[in-house]
Amino acid sequence: WARQIIAHDELESTNDLAKKLLADGAEEGTLVLADTQTRGKGRLGRSWFSEKGTGLYFSLILKPALPREQHPSLTLMAAVATVEALQPFSPHPITLKWPNDILLNQRKLGGILSEQVLAPGDTVSGVVVGIGINVNQTRFPEELAAVATSLYIETREQPERSDIFSFIINYLYKYYQILLEDGASPILSRWRQNSRMLGSSILLRQGAETHTGVAIDLDAAGRLVVRLNSGEVRAFDGGEVTLHPG
Ligand code: BTN
Repeated sequence: WARQIIAHDELESTNDLAKKLLADGAEEGTLVLADTQTRGKGRLGRSWFSEKGTGLYFSLILKPALPREQHPSLTLMAAVATVEALQPFSPHPITLKWPNDILLNQRKLGGILSEQVLAPGDTVSGVVVGIGINVNQTRFPEELAAVATSLYIETREQPERSDIFSFIINYLYKYYQILLEDGASPILSRWRQNSRMLGSSILLRQGAETHTGVAIDLDAAGRLVVRLNSGEVRAFDGGEVTLHPG
């Protein structure tokens, strides 16, 4: 595990540079950090608001000896590590929403975007785990104001980003070792403890399909198990969840 941190004032996307470095043979544990991103990426083709100097934007290079179907557990591992590292900075609970949203007072405080890097022959050469956290933003652009928040907005404290960053890195290292040594189940149980969504009614959009039901669990592969309103129980491996739809 390299403790190498590659820091830039500005990048298009820390994930994109990390993917390039991974393809060029960077060591596991290498971190790419930027003070701002000009093309920060979110899930589902969205962009990630990356204001200079207020948020944390970084990507971790991993080369796990895990079968490919277990790679979703890396995202859950990163979500657990991040939420536990952030909790001391907030008097209100910070929670997880499947698959990888970090929420504070029902608004989005952070998100995780994992991307695989394939080598020739379609084998996986590694995974880049990108983490974005809203730390000291005082406001968000209008289109995000209703859904996004920052630690500062919720707590009126201005933590040092470097403190949060080092907490998160330490937790990532700890939970990554646990995942490799003990498998996904301790990660999944931590995830369940840090999520408030199991037992809640949800709406799940996946492509053009919309499903409603109750989120009942995560399965061993990290999929969300939902009891649909039809009574059918189904596991979903992607999509976007709305909690407590009206
Ligand atoms: C999401 O919730 O949609 C995922 C957001 C992930 C944002 C981070 S910021 C650092 C890294 N680089 C990117 O371009 N995206 C991720």
